[in-house]
Amino acid sequence: MIFHDTKMKWAFVCLAYTLAAFAHGQDLEAGKANYTTCVACHGADATGNPALNAPALAGQSADYLARQIGHYQSGVRGADARDTVGRQMQGMAATLASPEAVANVAAYIASLPAGDGGDAGEHDTRNGEVQYNAACGACHGANAQGNPSLNAPNLASLDEAYLRRQYANFQQGIRGSHPDDKYGRQMQMMSSMLATDKDLDDVIGFILAQ
Ligand code: HEC
Ligand code: HEC
Repeated sequence: MIFHDTKMKWAFVCLAYTLAAFAHGQDLEAGKANYTTCVACHGADATGNPALNAPALAGQSADYLARQIGHYQSGVRGADARDTVGRQMQGMAATLASPEAVANVAAYIASLPAGDGGDAGEHDTRNGEVQYNAACGACHGANAQGNPSLNAPNLASLDEAYLRRQYANFQQGIRGSHPDDKYGRQMQMMSSMLATDKDLDDVIGFILAQ
C-alpha cells in the first residue's frame, strides 16, 4: 500500500502497532499488577533507585525489557559469580511465572514516561560529545535515547553508577559473553572503544547531560 499523505501513513503505522499489541495479547492492567513486586526497588514510576542499585526501567522498549528479564531467568545475565548485583535481579525475575507475565509487565513499564538519569557533574563536554558520537551514537542515538530497531537501549534515563557498572560488566565479560547473548555480545565488542578512563568519564557526562 502506498500513502502519499504523510499523516495518513502515520495513522496507519500507529493503528498497526496498536493491533500488533492486541494480537500479542499484552495486558497493561495485568502488567501493572505484576509490577507491584518491582516497586520496592525500581520505584512506582519505574525511574529507579540508585541507593539500591536498581536502574530506571521507564524509557526502555518492551522488547528490551522482556529480553533482559528472560536473560535473568535463563542465566544469560546475572549468573556470573562476580555479578552480585545482577544476582539480586535474577531472583526477582524468577517471580514472573510465565512468558505472558513477562510480556505484560514489559508492556506496562514501556508505557510509562522516561525519567532523567541525574546530573552530569564535572566533565569535558566537548570531548564527551566527540567520543560519544564516534563510539556510541550510531546505535544508542544522537541523544542517547536508544534505538529499538537496533536493540540498543535508552542510556539517557539511567543513573551514573548503573551506567558505569554495566559498561564495566561488558568490558570484563560479566555481561555479554554468554553464547545466547546475541545483542550483549555486540555491546561487549563496543566496550573496548573508549581508549582512556577520561574518555569514559566524559562520555558518561555527555549521556547524563541529555
Ligand atoms: C530487590 C530489588 C529489586 C526488585 C524487587 C526488582 N528488581 Fe529489577 N533490578 C534490580 C537491580 C539491582 C538491577 C540491576 C542488576 C544488574 O546490575 O544487572 C535490576 C535490573 C533490572 C532490569 C534490567 C534493566 C536494564 O536496563 O537492563 C530489568 C528489566 C528489571 N530489573 C526488571 C524488574 C522487574 C520487572 C521487576 C518486578 C517483577 C523487578 N525488576 C524487581 C533490583 C530489583
Ligand atoms: C553496535 C551498536 C552499539 C554501539 C556502537 C554501542 N552500543 Fe551500547 N548497547 C548496544 C546494545 C545492542 C545493547 C543491549 C545489549 C543487551 O541486550 O543486553 C547495549 C547496551 C548498553 C548498556 C547497558 C544499558 C542497560 O540498560 O543495561 C550501556 C551502559 C551501553 N550500551 C553503553 C554504551 C556506550 C557508552 C557506548 C559507546 C562507547 C556504546 N554503548 C556503544 C549496542 C551498542
